[in-house]
Amino acid sequence: MSKDLFGLAGKVAVVTGGANGIGAGIAEVLAEAGATVLIADIALDKAQEQASALSAAGLKAEAVVLDLAEESSIVRACAGIIERMGVPYVLVNNAGVQDRELLLETTSGFWDREMAVNARGPFLMMREIARAMVAAGQGGRIVNIASAAVIGGITMGHAAYASSKAALSGLMRASALELVEHGITVNTILPGGVVTPGARGAKGPPPEGPGRRRPPLGMADPRDVGAAVLFFASAAGTRVTNQTLAVDGGWSIT
Ligand SMILES: NC(=O)c1ccc[n+]([C@@H]2O[C@H](COP(=O)([O-])OP(=O)(O)OC[C@H]3O[C@@H](n4cnc5c(N)ncnc54)[C@H](O)[C@@H]3O)[C@@H](O)[C@H]2O)c1
Repeated sequence: MSKDLFGLAGKVAVVTGGANGIGAGIAEVLAEAGATVLIADIALDKAQEQASALSAAGLKAEAVVLDLAEESSIVRACAGIIERMGVPYVLVNNAGVQDRELLLETTSGFWDREMAVNARGPFLMMREIARAMVAAGQGGRIVNIASAAVIGGITMGHAAYASSKAALSGLMRASALELVEHGITVNTILPGGVVTPGARGAKGPPPEGPGRRRPPLGMADPRDVGAAVLFFASAAGTRVTNQTLAVDGGWSIT
């Protein structure tokens, strides 16, 4: 019963930023559900390491290099994936940068960088992969990883970051409308605090503000986010689109 609801055998899933942190947890959960997972990341060595670890555990995974800040890189990587592996059934737009700059000190270049990777990249990934999904006529699942910063838990220095994550909400609504008639769902997950290389290594002023408080249910694990992705990506989520789910340990209600 639960295999019918949550299994992904025979499906191809692309996880951007799957080499580290939350993306690695998502890739693991989707691979355990039976998907062939493509770990699409700018850090090719780490993506290959991650894919090898999953393969060594008897799961199906491969690494793909791409830079989400470059349209040509996205177009090339998606074309390669489709040619080699067939049309993906699942796209998880997870990769993101999370550096901080205070509003009074920030630059347009910083804004452009955060927007390029966190908002424009997912927008272009969706265009490329959804085009192939529509042409194949087999439906599909798109899950965007935004942040609980858009509903609570905001941190000093996150003006550009929170704006880039809020952009994913508009992207979800508009694309869910255009894709629904093709059986493609688009949903968003808002992680709260998750201990990852990106969160630990984010540059900028000290992460002060309400975002510092501890979530009542504890910090999330990358696999907690993976479980929520699996719900949206599997048969369990067949009739769920244009929805936002916070996996934030209760952060946003405190
Ligand atoms: N960690 C948290 O507390 C937290 C909270 C809320 C939301 N998020 C979001 O979750 C997602 C994953 O975050 P994480 O903490 O695991 O980060 P992370 O930095 O640990 O991992 C991000 C991955 O994305 C890849 N990446 C970065 N720039 C890229 C680019 N231009 N092209 C392709 N790949 C690129 C990195 O190489 C890395 O493997 C991000 O979108 C982040 O904003 C994280």
